[in-house]
Amino acid sequence: MIPIAKPLIGDAEKRAVLDVLDSGMLVQGPRVAELEAQWARVCGTRHAIAIVNGTAALHVAMLAHGIGPGDEVITTPFTFIASVNSILYVGAKPVFVDIDPDTFNLDVSQIEAAVTPHTKAVLPVHLYGRPADMEPILALAARHGLKIIEDAAQAIGAHYKGRPVGSFGTACFSLYATKNVMSAEGGMITTDDDEIARLCRLLRQHGSERRYYHDMLGFNFRLSDLHAAIGLAQLGRLKDLTTRRQANARTLTQGINNPLVITPLTDNTPGTDSVWHQYTLRVVGMDRDAAVQQLTAAGIGTSIFYPVPAHQQRHIVEMGYAQGVALPVAEQIANEVLSLPVHPALSEDDLSSIIAAVNTLH
Ligand SMILES: Cc1ncc(COP(=O)(O)O)c(C=O)c1O
Repeated sequence: MIPIAKPLIGDAEKRAVLDVLDSGMLVQGPRVAELEAQWARVCGTRHAIAIVNGTAALHVAMLAHGIGPGDEVITTPFTFIASVNSILYVGAKPVFVDIDPDTFNLDVSQIEAAVTPHTKAVLPVHLYGRPADMEPILALAARHGLKIIEDAAQAIGAHYKGRPVGSFGTACFSLYATKNVMSAEGGMITTDDDEIARLCRLLRQHGSERRYYHDMLGFNFRLSDLHAAIGLAQLGRLKDLTTRRQANARTLTQGINNPLVITPLTDNTPGTDSVWHQYTLRVVGMDRDAAVQQLTAAGIGTSIFYPVPAHQQRHIVEMGYAQGVALPVAEQIANEVLSLPVHPALSEDDLSSIIAAVNTLH
């Protein structure tokens, strides 16, 4: 079976972990600080703050921006649930705007109509590694005085019109095991704002700048040096890992010609590039479950990211945040999407097998 995801663990990762174990500095040692410095360089931001996972990164970003009860945050319903849960953790209300069927990201033409006097922030998600359309989002945020919190969990290394993802406001990344750059579990917040960075660091460490003196209610959301060491080894290979994903995506799109599926958009905007965290088809001419079965029988791993849009998830319905909400594009796309392997460990033979299996779907 060709797996849908495969963490690339080489000698560099193994050596990095052993070095940390040998050093005895398992937490709050130099690796976390190094990873933060390199991450900030990749994103072109003044600060990067390492956090235990991407969900905690989003949660902390919400708190650092003072978002809480009575506030509304505009976001996409077509995302991993953590994007929306972070809004719920702080007692704010998620307001869903439908998506663009070609990019799977927020339909920017619909955001303005969702703004109310209670809107505090927009939370775009760069889904599957494809940058959201940030220019209109930046303009709208400036017009209405809104914060931007990017969910860049899937998009390290991506650019939008020449600018790195993660540099448009406060941004949150995940280094979960299957992410383009991973540390088994891990997260990162990037920002240019000194005060937001200070608050994020405080929130990560029980509100404490000086040991056992606590200025605010915080958490233990620290990343360990073991995890940071893996992340550093991976980040050093970011260009190579990304180039391979992009080449794999190109090969798949060139090879797939079955009219029962739609291949993902190739964005030709100058300076804009997806980092292909996922390569996601729309299955439009046949039953998706049958497609999954046929691909599985051919030895191709697949996954559905995500079968249920956030506004239809049970806890969000029960909290009353989805009443009267019609998001027809997200609902349709959730029924059509099917992700294929695109990870850097694929061989030429693997790619040929995937293309052949997709082209014989019937
Ligand atoms: C879009 C998105 N947001 C947030 C997260 C949360 O990250 P983590 O799993 O590291 O908590 C993920 C990771 O799966 C994600 O894909």
